[in-house]
Amino acid sequence: MKKDFFKDSTIKFPAYEPWISKDDKRIVSKALDQSMLTLGPQLEKFEVDFCKYTKSKYAVAVSNCTAALHLSLKALGIKEHDEVIIPDLTFVADASAILVCNAKPVIVDINKNDFFLSISNLKKNITKRTKAIIPVHIYGQVCNIDEVLDVARENDLKIIEDCAHAIGTFHNSKHVGTLGDTGCFSFYPTKNITTAEGGMVITNSKKIAEKVRQLRNHGMSKSLKSRYSSGYPWIFDISEPGYNYRLDEIRAALGISQLKRIKKINELRKNAAFYYNSKLQNIPGIVLPDMVNDKTHSYHLYTIRVTKPFKLSRNQLFKKLKQAGIRTTVYWMPIHKYGAFRKFANLSNVKNTSKIYNEILALPLFPKISKKHQDSVINTIKSFQK
Ligand SMILES: Cc1ncc(COP(=O)(O)O)c(C=O)c1O
Repeated sequence: MKKDFFKDSTIKFPAYEPWISKDDKRIVSKALDQSMLTLGPQLEKFEVDFCKYTKSKYAVAVSNCTAALHLSLKALGIKEHDEVIIPDLTFVADASAILVCNAKPVIVDINKNDFFLSISNLKKNITKRTKAIIPVHIYGQVCNIDEVLDVARENDLKIIEDCAHAIGTFHNSKHVGTLGDTGCFSFYPTKNITTAEGGMVITNSKKIAEKVRQLRNHGMSKSLKSRYSSGYPWIFDISEPGYNYRLDEIRAALGISQLKRIKKINELRKNAAFYYNSKLQNIPGIVLPDMVNDKTHSYHLYTIRVTKPFKLSRNQLFKKLKQAGIRTTVYWMPIHKYGAFRKFANLSNVKNTSKIYNEILALPLFPKISKKHQDSVINTIKSFQK
């Protein structure tokens, strides 16, 4: 086991450890020998491989999932005065990406059991200004995407699927991210595959893919390759200013190598999640993650709910686990609790999230987690059983 990153010698069991294989190191080291370290063959291959895996027509790699969300919104024409609906229980990136487009994030409640967007609350919050919805495949499970798509169709809204947790999650044989207008992935170190930092936009629309590709690279009308293949490389147009959201060759190389192992990675995660399921059953007050039978899952996070009659509150259990040398955490504080977003929420709209926030706790879960690690988590929780 690696030493605790935060140099806390009392921690014996981390919440997460990345799986970097010898092959990963080899391919990264080889990429470092290239004469050009960005916008090159590794990036192209990573995008092609990602298209093949997800069966999407286009994939554009970017510097992180927040960039993927931002560029998706831009490519879909989201602008000032538009409204975009997000669940209250999600990562802040969804809300920030909307705000940086000068649009308004509209925060909607979640269902108590599965944490998906509440469809009744979603419908209540649609106005003339609503342009898009960002459903989140939270913790790796397919969300209620069919219902969200129905609402979108009825109201002519765009869908940006937040697939940050959901590489390897399929819905009726289709990879998530291919069901809406775009799908956005994260390769942050804790995610199912990592490039350290990185992200991807997938789409079946050529127009959207081209727009995202341009905006990723300052809005340049020509690719690096085409600029150097013919004519004068410095001549290109900028029809709309863009960003530097590029994914470099080193990270793209790591992505290629990690993606090769995705089946194995998700299988190991699934085994670990099922082990928790089998050992934590029937503890009064401990609610196990709602794994809806007909929904596929990539087991990104294993989040329990700590409710009455369990002896401890969620915060108390967090502390006890930490005292036992085990790191856990909460994903996340609801969006409506952040200073920057409070004004976008109507508190009577987000009752479920407010309640659930005080109950959720994510247990350690990663591909190479040991039985000893999991048993230590399980036994600590069980020691407080009534
Ligand atoms: C649901 C969700 N969306 C978006 C993001 C943003 O991803 P990134 O850190 O790659 O920008 C995260 C990151 O944790 C996330 O969990």
